[in-house]
Amino acid sequence: MNKIFPQISKHIGVVESVDIDSGHGIVSCSDERDSDLQKQKVAFCLTGEKILFDKLKYRRATYYTFAKVIENPNTQRVEQKCPHFTICGGCLFQHMSDALYREHKLKKVKNILHHYQEKITDLIVIPSGLRRKANFEAIKKQDKIYLGFHRFNSRQIINLETCRILRQEIVSLIEPLKKLLMEILNEFDKAEFFITLAENGLDVGLEIQNVKFLQEEKKIIIQQFGIENGLQRFTFRHGKKFDEIFCANEKPYLKFASYKVSINPWSFMQTSKEAESAMLGEMQNMLNLCSKKDSCIDLFSGRGTYTLSLIHNFRKIKAVELSEESISALNEVKDLYDLPIESEIRNLFEKPVESRELNEFDVAIINPPRAGAESQSIELAKSNVKNILYVSCNPETFARDLKILENKYRLIDIKVIDQFIWSNHLEVIGFFELK
Ligand SMILES: C[S@@+](CC[C@H](N)C(=O)[O-])C[C@H]1O[C@@H](n2cnc3c(N)ncnc32)[C@H](O)[C@@H]1O
Repeated sequence: MNKIFPQISKHIGVVESVDIDSGHGIVSCSDERDSDLQKQKVAFCLTGEKILFDKLKYRRATYYTFAKVIENPNTQRVEQKCPHFTICGGCLFQHMSDALYREHKLKKVKNILHHYQEKITDLIVIPSGLRRKANFEAIKKQDKIYLGFHRFNSRQIINLETCRILRQEIVSLIEPLKKLLMEILNEFDKAEFFITLAENGLDVGLEIQNVKFLQEEKKIIIQQFGIENGLQRFTFRHGKKFDEIFCANEKPYLKFASYKVSINPWSFMQTSKEAESAMLGEMQNMLNLCSKKDSCIDLFSGRGTYTLSLIHNFRKIKAVELSEESISALNEVKDLYDLPIESEIRNLFEKPVESRELNEFDVAIINPPRAGAESQSIELAKSNVKNILYVSCNPETFARDLKILENKYRLIDIKVIDQFIWSNHLEVIGFFELK
């Protein structure tokens, strides 16, 4: 590990409860010298446990970090699954039994969507070891490579050896990537890898801070790396310039229904194939309940995960998305198979699709980024679209937009999919019908 924060002090406290929102324990600690400690949030601990924790100060911020349980371990505590747990910032809940974990996440989403608690009956948990996408940061320091995710509560990079949430194909690449960086980075160079397990193999992207291009000898090293590690492609990126250094005989792609859609290592995609299938299954069930589904508008469509996978439901579908590159990947498929898809590159935050245009469609699918889609929801709430399927990776912004949609739409069903295992994140799908 590289240098840790300056440590201030060690303390003992009792966990009164676990905060639903953050997932951290609320710890009471009576230390007369330090009134800050009376009630603090500490991650990785469970109700009733007596724990040892550290108070750490970094610049002007103070952090409280779990050290160990010293008395009364909670009966729902289980062995952590990964050696990096509590140090790595990636996972929060590996110490919970499956039952407690499920209960906690369900409580969290019910808490946010409290008016609709009775509609939230289950949680579909996508198991660990399936995530097909990873970003690793790296730095070369004192002739050593540190590569991995951020340390918990910090920007520091931990030196990752393994990871329980990622697909094994990506985990197996961690050590070879460190060896590669040893050869191509200079001291104090900072780099970032963007890795996707595509349908046909690994697609690796690399950026190196302040490096605009790679010398020929480094490219030769990368080509050799690509061959030895069975990569599908290796791309070096600086700003908007892409330098494809190695590519096997076929460019990386994802498959939506039977359509192959080209990707790059920086593309958005759902975290795993399994999560994507679960979401599509729930969406198809919802579509089966729509009284009319001749036409559909897919807002924040990306490269067509839903447009292409659900196209068989509609006579025509329109995909709207900000990313030019995503729309051009979708258009390639549309042209190749002559599909009834219309597409538009549009900033939906600044220029939402207006209600009169929305009225041309029976169904709207909307899947915004974590910020949600406030202005687009306002337009939807003025429209006469018959059904809306709102897919969200942030229940908080979903709850905000739901209030807007409620002016005109009735929420029929909510499905909750946990595609971010052991993290505090959740995916929800809301199904609405015109009042
Ligand atoms: C959660 S992803 C969903 C993508 C797609 N539905 C899928 O499942 O692959 C959100 C998408 O919104 C796009 N996006 C972000 N900001 C946007 C904006 N202001 N206007 C339109 N699209 C935007 C992103 O490029 C991304 O493709």
